[in-house]
This record gives sequence, structure tokens and C-alpha cells, in this order.
Amino acid sequence: MKRIIYETYGDPEVLKIADFDIPQPQSDEVLVKVMAAGINPVDYKIRNGSLKFIYRAKFPRTPGGEISGKVEKAGEGAKKFSPGDRVYSMLPPGIGGYSEYVNVKEDLLSVLPGSMPFNEGAAIPLAGLTSLQALRDKGEIKEGMEVLVNGGSGGVGMFAIQIAKAYNAKVTTVCSGKNVDFVKSFGADIVIDYEKDDFTQMGNTYDIIFDAVAKSGFSKCKKILKKNGIYITTLPSPGVMFRQIINPLLSKKSFAILTKPGGKDLDYFSELIRQNKLIVSLEKVFNLEDANLAHKHIETGRTKGKLVIQMEHRI
Ligand SMILES: NC(=O)c1ccc[n+]([C@@H]2O[C@H](COP(=O)([O-])OP(=O)(O)OC[C@H]3O[C@@H](n4cnc5c(N)ncnc54)[C@H](OP(=O)(O)O)[C@@H]3O)[C@@H](O)[C@H]2O)c1
Repeated sequence: MKRIIYETYGDPEVLKIADFDIPQPQSDEVLVKVMAAGINPVDYKIRNGSLKFIYRAKFPRTPGGEISGKVEKAGEGAKKFSPGDRVYSMLPPGIGGYSEYVNVKEDLLSVLPGSMPFNEGAAIPLAGLTSLQALRDKGEIKEGMEVLVNGGSGGVGMFAIQIAKAYNAKVTTVCSGKNVDFVKSFGADIVIDYEKDDFTQMGNTYDIIFDAVAKSGFSKCKKILKKNGIYITTLPSPGVMFRQIINPLLSKKSFAILTKPGGKDLDYFSELIRQNKLIVSLEKVFNLEDANLAHKHIETGRTKGKLVIQMEHRI
């Protein structure tokens, strides 16, 4: 089988394709024939070494934190899935998704409904769980709340808009002018073009501000939070981590999200898919051997929706 590896931190050219034996699943694992792997900014941040103090790399390392595919074989103790099942998963650090096969603990898998193509399914887990855990667990989102998503056109923002709408919140999102129609397609009620207006200076207030692109810190957003409002960022800076400790003393709270993998949380998206309530927009699909091009693309910070690698499984 083919898989992408790198043996040193560096630019996208350190990514190489290599041959490996197909791994055998441990008792509680499931061997998944990967059909597609999602690309996320964290993939290049680990590759270039900027997260080396958090994610210690054992080389060779394979990038990729999310996949979709078909169950090939279940370990002896894995009872929930059978060969042929369509699945998707956010992978824990250390297991790379840019690979034709991966072993995944069965608790981290969920069934991918048949109506969702594998390429789109692979784009959901990491960015989707980030948005779900931010809005549901940190934001305690409820029907009728006013929610602002900063960066609605990116991977995380695209899911955040749809989750907030599924909770019947009123959603404002911030993006550049070229993406206004794009974010409206996910159900955003109000769109602010950051090239024309600064959302922190417009006088509107929100129950939740989810800074999906981590571009406007708590100090800027605090004044536009309602009383008891909650700010959530995707950037776990020391400042936010400290403020999390003193949140119980404050009326306006701030959190940083550290996304956790989990099949149960992914079931939430499977249900939205079954109800026809989830759109996944892919800007581009790459081949496995072009993983370096996928990294160059995601590093621009301008990706519209998501990028995925489609596996070809040429023998
Ligand atoms: N802590 C965690 O556990 C966790 C988990 C997942 C993601 N993250 C982090 O979350 C961030 C977002 O991830 P992502 O996958 O959504 O990234 P992404 O897909 O690369 O985001 C790209 C999008 O951001 C928009 N954007 C850029 N500058 C903006 C600005 N000033 N205001 C509003 N939108 C802006 C771009 O639109 P334009 O081209 O129109 O500007 C583009 O559509 C990344 O830093 C990622 O590493 C953290």
C-alpha cells in the first residue's frame, strides 16, 4: 500500500510517497481501506515543525487527521463494524490519514451514510468536530441565540454555520466579499464582509462569538458579547488558556478549543446527513502523490471550504 511520509520537518517538498505492508488491526481496531483523506491547516503546522512542542514527531511521520473509507477487517474485539461498512473518523495524533489503509480504534469511527460521497465524508471529521465541540460544549448553544462565526468560508466555519443553524440559532458570519454567496449557501442569516466592515465596531452583540479563523482575539470581541456571552477561538494561546481558569469569576467567558476525536460525536453529523441537512463543499481534490500541492494550497489560508486527497488504490 502507498502512504505519504516525511522524515524531517520542512516545506511541502519533504512529503514523499512510499510503499508499506498493509497493517493488521489490533483487537479493538478496525482496518479501514481509506477512500479519501481530508486536509487541515494543522497538517502543515505539524509538518513545518511549528507545533513540535505539542505534537512530538516520531519520524517517518504521515500527515492527516481525518479519513473516510470502507472497513476491510475488524480486530477480534471490535464488534461494531463489519467488512464493507462505510465509515469516517478523526484520527488521533500519530496516525496519519494520507495512507491507503489505516487501523482505527472502533470507538473513533462512525457510519458514513450512503448519500454522502467518500470525498465529502473525509472533509467532515476534524473541522466538523471542532465546530461541534466549540458551539455545543464550550458555547452551550441553544435555540434563538445570536451566534457570530468569524471565517465562515473556511473548513471549520463552513460546519459551524450549519451546526448553529441546526440548533436554530441566528447566525452572522464574517468573510471576504468574494465568499458572501458561498457562506449564504450554508444558511448564514447575516454576512459581514471583513474587507468593508469591522464586525467588532458595528454595534451588534452576540451570545456566542466563534473565532473559527482565530483572527480577532477576546479583547477585541469582548465588547460585542452579550452579558454572559461566550467567546471561543481555535487558537489555544497562553492568554486564553489562562483566562479559561478564571472564567468562573467572569460574566463574559473565553475558551480555546482542542478538538477531541470520537465516533459518538461524529454520529451527530451522520444524523444531519441522513436528514439532508449537511452540505460539504470541496474546493479541490488531489491525488495522493500530490500531497505537497495540497499543503501549498492549505498554507495560503484562503481555502474555500475543504481540500481532500482521493485514494486511487492502484496495485
Ligand atoms: N484548536 C483546534 O483543535 C483546531 C482544530 C481545527 C482547526 N484549528 C485551527 O483553526 C483555524 C481555521 O481552520 P480552517 O480549517 O477553517 O482553516 P482554513 O480552511 O484554511 O481557513 C481558510 C478560510 O479563512 C478565511 N479567512 C482568512 N482570513 C480571514 C479573516 N481575517 N476573517 C475571516 N475569514 C478569513 C479565508 O477566506 P478569505 O480568502 O475570504 O479570506 C478562507 O476561506 C486554523 O488556524 C486551524 O489550525 C484548530
